[in-house]
Amino acid sequence: MKFHAPLSLLGACVATVQAYAVRAIPPTLYIAGDSTAAKDDGNLALLGWGEKIGQYLSIPIVNNAISGATTRSFTEGGNFTDIASAVKPGDIVIIEFGHNDNSTFSENPTTGDCPGDDLTTTCNYNGTTVYTYKRYLQDAVDLLRSRHARVIVASQTPDNPFAIFTIPVYVQYAADIAIANHLPYIDHFRLLLVTYYALGADKTNDLYPLDQHVHTSPEGADYVAQAVAKSALCDSTSPLKPFVTNTTVLPSYCVTG
Ligand SMILES: *[C@@H]1O[C@H](CO)[C@@H](O)[C@H](O)[C@H]1NC(C)=O
Ligand SMILES: *[C@@H]1O[C@H](CO)[C@@H](O)[C@H](O)[C@H]1NC(C)=O
Ligand SMILES: *[C@@H]1O[C@H](CO)[C@@H](O)[C@H](O)[C@H]1NC(C)=O
Ligand SMILES: *[C@@H]1O[C@H](CO)[C@@H](O)[C@H](O)[C@H]1NC(C)=O
Repeated sequence: MKFHAPLSLLGACVATVQAYAVRAIPPTLYIAGDSTAAKDDGNLALLGWGEKIGQYLSIPIVNNAISGATTRSFTEGGNFTDIASAVKPGDIVIIEFGHNDNSTFSENPTTGDCPGDDLTTTCNYNGTTVYTYKRYLQDAVDLLRSRHARVIVASQTPDNPFAIFTIPVYVQYAADIAIANHLPYIDHFRLLLVTYYALGADKTNDLYPLDQHVHTSPEGADYVAQAVAKSALCDSTSPLKPFVTNTTVLPSYCVTG
């Protein structure tokens, strides 16, 4: 009895601590993306939304987005594998690519994707097999889900619509992969168009400084982050929804597919 009482007490104590720890640890949000989500890249006039989303969420954030990245470079560079190694069950990963995937394979054979609206088309680059955007995205989803991460697919952000208006094919490709996998989808492209038309041309042009139409200023990055928060508020299936700390974000209404 002298031995058993302390041991069982200790056992109960450890069990309680573990149960508490599993329940109490909030998820971490990982961001896989390109410059439109990334750190400032040395140019303080420009910033990606991953550096602003922390203002709207109550959980830790790891911004792994890299300037110039594509679904292919993120795959070949081991960046998805790195995130998969880092995530704990229940962690959240947003995957958002498209701006640089749009350098087509023939124009950009080192990081461009093989063209195609399917999972099976391949191209050959210097003896290496290159896959489609959808295939790289699907493989990343499968990898992260095998690690019990909760994946959210996002479309790429729009270019400044008052400077250039195009709807890249990757917006639909991202939506297709989200739907096929029953994943929450951030329609970042349309959410931001709603915000930009509400702000108007002059204000929106200010958010894209240095005479370019892809990268936002820090203030612009804030609006891009607000759209991420809004999409979570509007989507009951989003694992981010419980962690959004501010409901007064733009766009002012829900934009759903
Ligand atoms: C992630 O991508 C960057 C740029 O493509 C590359 O330099 C880096 O090595 C990659 N990270 C890892 C751990 O593979
Ligand atoms: C093509 O592959 C060869 C052999 O692997 C390598 O030495 C060479 O650097 C590659 N060229 C390019 C442009 O990637
Ligand atoms: C790539 O972007 C250019 C504009 O920068 C656009 O004209 C073209 O349609 C886009 N291509 C695809 C495949 O989205
Ligand atoms: C919520 O975010 C908006 C946009 O950044 C900001 O204007 C507002 O002050 C924030 N509200 C609170 C309560 O922090």
